[in-house]
Amino acid sequence: MSAARPTWIGTSWKMTKTLAEASAWADAVARVPAPERVRRFVVPPSTALHQVAGRFAGTDVLVGAQDAHWEDAGPWTGEVSVPQVADAGARLVELGHSERRQHLGDTDDRVAAKLAAVVRHGLLPLLCVGEDADTRARGRAVDHVLGQLARALGGVDPGTRLLVAYEPVWAIGAGGTRAAPEQVAPVLAAVRAAYGDRLEALLYGGSVDVRGAPELLEVPEVDGLFVGRSAWDAAGFLRLVELAGERRTTRP
Ligand code: PGA
Repeated sequence: MSAARPTWIGTSWKMTKTLAEASAWADAVARVPAPERVRRFVVPPSTALHQVAGRFAGTDVLVGAQDAHWEDAGPWTGEVSVPQVADAGARLVELGHSERRQHLGDTDDRVAAKLAAVVRHGLLPLLCVGEDADTRARGRAVDHVLGQLARALGGVDPGTRLLVAYEPVWAIGAGGTRAAPEQVAPVLAAVRAAYGDRLEALLYGGSVDVRGAPELLEVPEVDGLFVGRSAWDAAGFLRLVELAGERRTTRP
């Protein structure tokens, strides 16, 4: 047992929450101090970013944006840029989530350009990677994930530090299947072996809930969990934070 490394618990709210709901969540979380060695973060929709960042200013809770454009400014209707999300209080920027890759045109090239912009402006990238069910069935999960990482990181200095969230597409969302630790451990180990020196933390995400979290936290390669639905309720998030605080297995 070692307690050397922090365990991260974060949530993206995706396209949920009004300002009133965001504020209630933030108030509930801000009232409860993080256990020792747990790092908390939240990724609100851009409408609530400034408000939530203000609420958590001066606390341990990092606030991030769900995406940002590769250009700094310009005629890109509907988009927000890295300088804009930084101005609104974001300290990290999520990139390459499978929902954006599947439905919103985020190719590997776009993810790489966005990641370069995030790094250029000094924010922390949170890069999401993961294979779909077919790719896994063909035994290509590790290759696929390493390929996504290589393409996303091709344009930045090898010294760039980042958060990586391994989120198998088949495990994400209401139609997802909860992953067993033995299904995810080899992919996480491969990511660690290839990129360990750049990882601020290596997270797992996809249908994480209070029931499944303890065994995922026992996977030694996991530095934390990136959570959707189960953390949209502040009590659910705080319960996951508590479980992370009780974690006994961490890498040295
Ligand atoms: P989920 O979302 O926990 O609701 O499956 C995870 C994610 O997309 O990061």
